[in-house]
Amino acid sequence: MLWPLPVVLVASQGREGPPNLLTVAWTGIVCTRPPLLSIAVTTGRYSHDLLVETGRFTVNLPTTSLVRAVDLCGVTSGRDTDKWRRAGLTPVAGSAGGPPLVEECPVNLECRVERRLDLGSHTLFIAGIEQVHVAAGLIDGKGRLALERAGLLSWCHGHYYALGRQLGHFGFSVRRRPAGRAGRAGRAVRAGERPSR
Ligand SMILES: Cc1cc2nc3c(=O)[nH]c(=O)nc-3n(C[C@H](O)[C@H](O)[C@H](O)COP(=O)(O)O)c2cc1C
Repeated sequence: MLWPLPVVLVASQGREGPPNLLTVAWTGIVCTRPPLLSIAVTTGRYSHDLLVETGRFTVNLPTTSLVRAVDLCGVTSGRDTDKWRRAGLTPVAGSAGGPPLVEECPVNLECRVERRLDLGSHTLFIAGIEQVHVAAGLIDGKGRLALERAGLLSWCHGHYYALGRQLGHFGFSVRRRPAGRAGRAGRAVRAGERPSR
């Protein structure tokens, strides 16, 4: 019922055997110091066993052009499918020695499980982010990460979406607008107000 969610490709690998891919929408950053994220994975999934076995995974952020590959990795199992080959994705070694990164994804996070919460249908893996890889094209002239350029994929209640218009920026609601700029371009959207189309 949360809308929208990110959707990511999680690569995991057991002590033996090839790496696998899992589509995950129940993920999020949960702490900045130390940098931690979480993924909630259904117990009994093939990937669940791999995650428990080694405690290592990578989170790879797909673009809208990878939507078919993302769906495929979320409806097939690594138990009987080489998802990398079938989805046309390329494993590349990361720098932390864990499972591979997905080369086609512009952002990759190498993670190590720090806590495991067995919640019921899902296990919540809380993991430290050990390495971050970002495609060079996403760093702007000032060295800022311009993630909005990446065209990342979103998941909304059973459907895949590209994000829409930008409506504001951090803190814009309390920033004073320069005099004479209160016209259409500078108009903020107030809570409860429906933005015009
Ligand atoms: C868009 C999408 C999001 C998903 N999100 C999750 C998730 O957050 N957690 C989860 O356990 N499974 C999720 N799934 C289901 C798994 O990706 C799916 O069961 C997958 O086939 C398991 O692969 P495996 O057997 O190789 O581990 C999602 C599937 C899709 C299509």
